[in-house]
Amino acid sequence: MLISFEGIDGSGKSTQVVLMRRRLEEAGYAVDMVREPGGTALSERIRSLLLDPDLEVDSMAELLLFSAARAQLVREHLMPSLAEGNVVLCDRFFDSTTVYQGAGRGLDPDGWLDAFNRRVTKGLVPTRTYLIDIDPEEAVRRRMAQGGVAGRDRMEQAEPAFYTRIVDAYRALAYAEPVRWRVLDGLRPAEEIARHIWADFVRLAGHGRNTPE
Ligand code: ADP
Ligand code: TYD
Repeated sequence: MLISFEGIDGSGKSTQVVLMRRRLEEAGYAVDMVREPGGTALSERIRSLLLDPDLEVDSMAELLLFSAARAQLVREHLMPSLAEGNVVLCDRFFDSTTVYQGAGRGLDPDGWLDAFNRRVTKGLVPTRTYLIDIDPEEAVRRRMAQGGVAGRDRMEQAEPAFYTRIVDAYRALAYAEPVRWRVLDGLRPAEEIARHIWADFVRLAGHGRNTPE
């Protein structure tokens, strides 16, 4: 089963992925954890290009690089891992491209990106996507607390309006596809969010297994 975590930078995704992994392992699941962009040698190299603050990257080139990293991850890592029966936790997946490059950079005025994303992922769609939802202002506060302006990667140098578009686009995606998405209030304490995610996962995993929760 593939489960993805989405949200603006600083929303607490990585924290939740780690907490979820621990709970899954305690419950006896085989777990695999990947972050995007990354997860293969090629994808990690593309990641360093994409986040390098000294590089100028055109928006379309950016979209293609994120997608190249993902194409490699899907074929080299995700498909085999899922075939082995792992629960795969993805810190970001194609929804990040829909939101950051589509809505954020304005690259999808005529709606071609969904079909493109499906090609990139070979049709792989997460069974569940958790949106850790916080306002852009809170994301900025957390990033400043973490290291301020000096530590910003290239993506984090975008103007504030970019992040407002990201948050709005995530909320719209979750609203449009309620069967796949669950929205968590990212302002709640991390352990509380993790409990909500776990309760949802137990229900999800129980479906079709015919076992009591
Ligand atoms: P992301 O992976 O979305 O960028 P992180 O998990 O790295 O986010 O968290 C960003 C920062 O916010 C970290 O300093 C982390 O400790 C903090 N954080 C994570 N979850 C919460 C939460 N629920 N409430 C307050 N701070 C949080
Ligand atoms: P990362 O440090 O992993 O960010 P975070 O911890 O906030 O998830 O950096 C990934 C950055 O790349 C982040 O700003 C989101 C962006 N991104 C895209 O713009 N498009 C994509 O398809 C993906 C996967 C990430």
